[in-house]
Amino acid sequence: MGNVQKQYQQYINDLDKPSVVKWMDFLAHKHADIYRHSVRVAILADKLAQPIGCNATERSHLVIGCFLHDLGKAFIPSEILHARRKLTEQEWNIIRLHPIVGTEMLDKDPGLDSTILEVIRCHHERYDGTGYPDQLAGENIPLFARMCSVLDAFDSMMSDRPYRGRMTMREAKDELLLLGGTQFDSKIVEVFLGLSDTILDLYSQS
Ligand SMILES: [Fe+2]
Repeated sequence: MGNVQKQYQQYINDLDKPSVVKWMDFLAHKHADIYRHSVRVAILADKLAQPIGCNATERSHLVIGCFLHDLGKAFIPSEILHARRKLTEQEWNIIRLHPIVGTEMLDKDPGLDSTILEVIRCHHERYDGTGYPDQLAGENIPLFARMCSVLDAFDSMMSDRPYRGRMTMREAKDELLLLGGTQFDSKIVEVFLGLSDTILDLYSQS
């Protein structure tokens, strides 16, 4: 993972949160690809925090939320997560449980701020209210979850998936723009697209 892994080690050391390290090690052991995805999303979150206007505490909560956003996927079988075929509705329902499972795994961790748990529970909500698990809409979706949602999608588009190749940076940016106002908060998309390509490109080195 090269440079991305080095950045991860730096962030984790600076955060000084042993429980976050423990959960990330657990995720790496269960699904290495989800772990790498989560690290990249958290690195992007760190870059997005400042132009959005987060203070230092908010920034660390956002980054931790992004590290842990998909933790609930640790309990989804690999045959479903990495299937190279169309999933059944029942399998989709299992995948859609991961925000709730992740939140419940972390609920008893006294060191985690409620805004961190909101990222994990709400990162699949959509701005138009058609997401899951709670069908929240607009600014009823917590800000950090709205941010994670954009970064999560960008990283997925920029990564190879079992069912498709990766997009180019231009294609991924165009897709985010297209989905602003429906899937995503268009104000966050606008700020994200204001970051330089050099900052956004974690992919040639991972
Ligand atoms: Fe997710």
